[in-house]
Amino acid sequence: MTEHEITAQIVAATDLDALEAVRIALLGKSGSISALLKTLGGMTPEQRQAEGPRINGLRVAATDAIAARKAQLEGAALEARLATERLDMSLPAPATPRGSVHPVSQVMDELAEIFADMGFAVATGPEIEDQWHNFTALNMPETHPARAMHDTFYLEAAGGEEAKVLRTHTSPVQIRTMTSQAPPIRIIAPGRVYRSDSDATHTPMFHQIEGLVVDKGIHLGHLKWTLETFLKAFFERDDIVLRLRPSYFPFTEPSVEVDVGFSIEKGKRVLGGTGGWMELLGSGMVHPRVLRACGIDPDEYSGFAFGVGVDRLAMLKYGMDDLRAFFDGDNRWLKHYGFGALDVPTLSAGVGA
Ligand code: DAH
Repeated sequence: MTEHEITAQIVAATDLDALEAVRIALLGKSGSISALLKTLGGMTPEQRQAEGPRINGLRVAATDAIAARKAQLEGAALEARLATERLDMSLPAPATPRGSVHPVSQVMDELAEIFADMGFAVATGPEIEDQWHNFTALNMPETHPARAMHDTFYLEAAGGEEAKVLRTHTSPVQIRTMTSQAPPIRIIAPGRVYRSDSDATHTPMFHQIEGLVVDKGIHLGHLKWTLETFLKAFFERDDIVLRLRPSYFPFTEPSVEVDVGFSIEKGKRVLGGTGGWMELLGSGMVHPRVLRACGIDPDEYSGFAFGVGVDRLAMLKYGMDDLRAFFDGDNRWLKHYGFGALDVPTLSAGVGA
């Protein structure tokens, strides 16, 4: 076997599998070069002196030639793949862009813009939540009747662990925020929430936005000002009037239900004025027990929180009346109520897009 014969075999391999077969036939455990190397042991020192360099030379030549051929074949394979994956980036875009931004996305962007201007950061949390974050830390222990108020979706419990839930509200993000950062805290948390409920105004998945402020000396006045400023900016009207009513939520004390005044214009309800009241959101001062559960000293810090339905805000602002249509994916609805991709809400241009 000469070096020439060996390289001929290697070069003849037309793909990586064939090359590997040649490598095994030459250098594998029972390959021909390996067999030659084994004969060195039985030679006289003189024979070995002559044969050693020759056989080793064959091994080195084979190894080098295989590496070179491998690089060549891999390069060719890559070239071939790149050629098939070629994309023609010069294809023209459709004359009129299709698709639209869903009103829920639009409203969430509007809210983020409004609250960013007031110094709020956006926080997030998981949609599959543990019961401690969703209930217990929010002052709803296992036996608390308020747990039954949420028609909770429970997940199947994994091996001896407590069952997780699909979060029933965005309030657990309050807990995640307070356990991971120290006050002062100013966040909003928009996102999907889930409850086993379905009719014209309820869907099993809907959207909420949570607000949380924790600092020294925070009181109900801060809450009222924040909500008023937010709602005036959101509905783009200066005559938004709020009415705060005492209420109950386990995680706030005192708890406040907020109504917003509306008036009738051309036979339609529009927000603003005090012709009538509609319930809009829940809020209150963060319960000392909730602060304590998160390791925050309620003697030093206080906070307010609120939670509001994003879909409901969208319906009130943009005039839809059936919540279910939000999630039907009907193109006609999306075309009618959707927003252009470039209608980015900004305070200066009006968050109404
Ligand atoms: N988590 C409540 C719900 O889903 C809404 C809510 C009420 C949130 C009062 C708050 C709050 O942060 O303070 O019904």
